[in-house]
Amino acid sequence: MDDSAVFETQLESLPCVQRGKVRDLYAIGTDELLMVATDRLSAFDVVLPTPIPGKGHALTAISAFWFQHLREMVPNHCSEQGLEDLPLDASECAVLQGRSMRVRRLQPLPVEAVVRGYLVGSGWQDYQRDGYVCGIKLPPGLRLADRLPQPLFTPATKAEVGEHDENISFDEMTALVGIVRAREMRELSLALYERACAHAKEQGVIVADTKFEFGLNEQGALTLMDEVLTPDSSRFWDAEHWKPGENPYSYDKQYVRDWLQELDWDKRAPGPELPPDVVRNTTERYRQIGRRLCGPSYLES
Ligand SMILES: Nc1ncnc2c1ncn2[C@@H]1O[C@H](COP(=O)(O)OP(=O)(O)OP(=O)(O)O)[C@@H](O)[C@H]1O
Ligand SMILES: [Mg+2]
Repeated sequence: MDDSAVFETQLESLPCVQRGKVRDLYAIGTDELLMVATDRLSAFDVVLPTPIPGKGHALTAISAFWFQHLREMVPNHCSEQGLEDLPLDASECAVLQGRSMRVRRLQPLPVEAVVRGYLVGSGWQDYQRDGYVCGIKLPPGLRLADRLPQPLFTPATKAEVGEHDENISFDEMTALVGIVRAREMRELSLALYERACAHAKEQGVIVADTKFEFGLNEQGALTLMDEVLTPDSSRFWDAEHWKPGENPYSYDKQYVRDWLQELDWDKRAPGPELPPDVVRNTTERYRQIGRRLCGPSYLES
């Protein structure tokens, strides 16, 4: 394992409240969290044993960029406070550097807000089967990686640990969060996606799809949380090399998924170790997309 990679954090100074597939969460009092992005990579909802050096830094910097970029459209969970007042020792600070975010603790909504602008992944598989993507009928004759006539909002449930996220219809989403909130999430997610696409386009990047997570703040307002438009939660393609009908070069986790698909693995834990060249290439893809989306000062400060 690469020495610089962090598979799991063990802070003594703050109570750990949850370990997600990628993030370790610590409580700061009752209303804030320290969210630490490790270098773990999950694929098909299984955490792989091999960490990806630099990944936690990339996810943190890219999310911070988007929270800032989108802040006029939606409140986000980022706290104004730094880490200075926390009881962390020097070695903990070193681990956290660049991979942590202090956030307001929200009441998470139990729905993942997925937006798809292009036909790929499970959407492509569904379309090939019966012409529908998540219950939405699409015109015939679309190819792999084609741009959809308009972006689709395709919600999914947030799975419990060890389970898979499941696509749900808009009506099922309504049963979970109510019609008003469901409509609000759909409109906002589509608007955020459109705004993100406009920025990415200027950098020659296509955002094929993405997933937002929302929570409610103390005022009950819809608030963007978790991670935003990262290569873990999105598919990013090079606009220059995009060609409908072909599997595009992807600056994200899809590269690892494609590699795993070639193996005889049943997609159940434990996942296989990744070889050094796949690890290196993944680190490189995450770094490249961060530089392109966030600009040349990305991760230099
Ligand atoms: N501001 C917040 N308040 C409360 N919970 C949050 C906040 N931001 C993120 N979370 C939650 O913290 C966890 C982050 O962990 P992680 O990203 O590893 O998630 P996961 O759901 O296990 O994996 P994946 O993102 O691959 O589905 C998620 O459960 C997310 O909903
Ligand atoms: Mg997550």
